[in-house]
Amino acid sequence: MMITIDGVAASGKSTVASGVARALGVPYVSSGLLYRAAALSGLEAGLPLSDARALLAQLGQVPVRLEAHPEGNRVWIGGVERTADLHASEVDAGVSTVAGHPEIRRWVDSQLQALPAPFVAEGRDMGTNVFPAAPVKFYLTASPRVRALRRAQERPEEASAIEAALIERDRQDSRQIVPAADATVLDTSDLSAQEVIDRILKAVAARG
Ligand code: DC
Repeated sequence: MMITIDGVAASGKSTVASGVARALGVPYVSSGLLYRAAALSGLEAGLPLSDARALLAQLGQVPVRLEAHPEGNRVWIGGVERTADLHASEVDAGVSTVAGHPEIRRWVDSQLQALPAPFVAEGRDMGTNVFPAAPVKFYLTASPRVRALRRAQERPEEASAIEAALIERDRQDSRQIVPAADATVLDTSDLSAQEVIDRILKAVAARG
């Protein structure tokens, strides 16, 4: 069965989605990587990321391929593996612009819907737009402070700057981030990743 895990930036979605997928022996798919691949492809072609048409033409010419595994995703652009480059700072800075284009959102949606089901789909709008019929949907939140501290584990002195960046990121992403009406909203501020995984697995078991 399809499972969707959406939520705010740094809410632990990827860790949780990967853990749930591993426990169930299915792949997980990080939809954010496709937005990142679109941004990287556009940047390298020298396109302004505000130009949705040009980006879409680029995606038509240079194929993006995502391979989903329980332990992680790998992404190829034009036949070259680029997984390691998708979290470069230029991509971080430009990806919200790319994700704001309805044309690009439709492109990502169709890439995701073409993947062999079932899998755990992780992102911002998996339960609302992309897989509205998924029987198990979760939406993860956590306070900005907790998310910043999780992200800053190895550099606690940067927590405040990270927190400010997360609040700004929430603002930019807010259009896409709305929980599905039938999603279970889970505040993970006081939960470990394993506790969140266990709750989701319980919900899966309850659905048979
Ligand atoms: O989860 P992430 O940081 O890799 O996401 C990268 C960007 O893509 C972020 O700006 C939010 C956006 N995104 C989106 O709009 N919809 C999704 N389903 C997944 C990601």
